[in-house]
Amino acid sequence: MALRNIVKNGDDILTKVCRPVEKFNARLWTLLDDMYETMQNADGVGLAAPQVGLLRRIVVIDVGDGPIELVNPEIVETSGFQDGTEGCLSFPGEWGEVTRPMRVKVRAQDRNGAFFELEGEALLARACCHEIDHLNGICFPKRASRMLTPEEVEELHRKQG
Ligand code: CO
Repeated sequence: MALRNIVKNGDDILTKVCRPVEKFNARLWTLLDDMYETMQNADGVGLAAPQVGLLRRIVVIDVGDGPIELVNPEIVETSGFQDGTEGCLSFPGEWGEVTRPMRVKVRAQDRNGAFFELEGEALLARACCHEIDHLNGICFPKRASRMLTPEEVEELHRKQG
């Protein structure tokens, strides 16, 4: 496994729509492993392929319950709403208030191409929405009702220790 470079805000690739994965081969498995390692190394809860420079519909998530790999994911159902503070590994130091569904059902393929459904709520639902947005070229500031001020970001870091 290897760490990949995380693409930062300002790079055009973050605004592009990703293509579906068609080949479920060793190259995909290496990418998934690398993305997970890169995400963990950066203390993130989710990472999408465009954030490592690849326009493919691939997401990794870990909200503390172990790795989740989503290939060609689609949100097929949502319910409820949650307000919360959101950040992104491609936007270091930036945070915003983003309303997301409280629950989502996602249909995706695993690393072997098998279809499955994932139901998530709270932080997992937020992560699914945030990462799948990336696959459509949408970054969280576009979804934010407002961005936090530098003073609020400082306060947030103090709370998080
Ligand atoms: Co992000």
